[in-house]
Amino acid sequence: MDMSVLKEHIFLIGFMGAGKSSTARFLCSLLDVKETDTDEMIVAKEGCQIPEIFENKGEEYFRNLETSILDNIKNMEPCIVSCGGGLALRQENVRKMQDMGKIILLSATPETIYIHVKDSLSRPLLNGNMNIPYIKKLMEERLPKYHAAADIIIETDGLDPKEVAAKIADTYLQ
Ligand code: S3P
Repeated sequence: MDMSVLKEHIFLIGFMGAGKSSTARFLCSLLDVKETDTDEMIVAKEGCQIPEIFENKGEEYFRNLETSILDNIKNMEPCIVSCGGGLALRQENVRKMQDMGKIILLSATPETIYIHVKDSLSRPLLNGNMNIPYIKKLMEERLPKYHAAADIIIETDGLDPKEVAAKIADTYLQ
């Protein structure tokens, strides 16, 4: 597919374990564009993993990194951006993303999320809280902000990342 298919960035947002990174990989090959991941950019910038950043510097420090990373993304060619699950909660970040492209929310039920994250050791917010009721509570707190930020919402329950990517490509390229 022609590179010019993407005129602006596509930001994938949504709860931890919604499949943003895996979907981004498939979407990139479908659209023949590059992919970036805000968590990976932060890890590369800081030289340490996310749990260490949370533990040593605190969540606020991590959230500020997310905001500043968006300025780096602004200088990139249009690409698929897989966003950390908390990035779209800050209004300032949402405004920056809206200025740079389209925001796509990958939604999934707490049950689906739990299946995806239950063995993860790299998500500090779920440390000691790895259960469906906690995921449901945190998701309910976040949903209004996710919905307010999103240009497009893709329901992902029962779909694998390849199918989600195809659904996005269909919707986006319409
Ligand atoms: C977070 C989600 C994580 C990561 C950090 C905080 C969140 O990314 O940015 O642990 O607040 O939802 P994923 O959504 O890729 O797991």
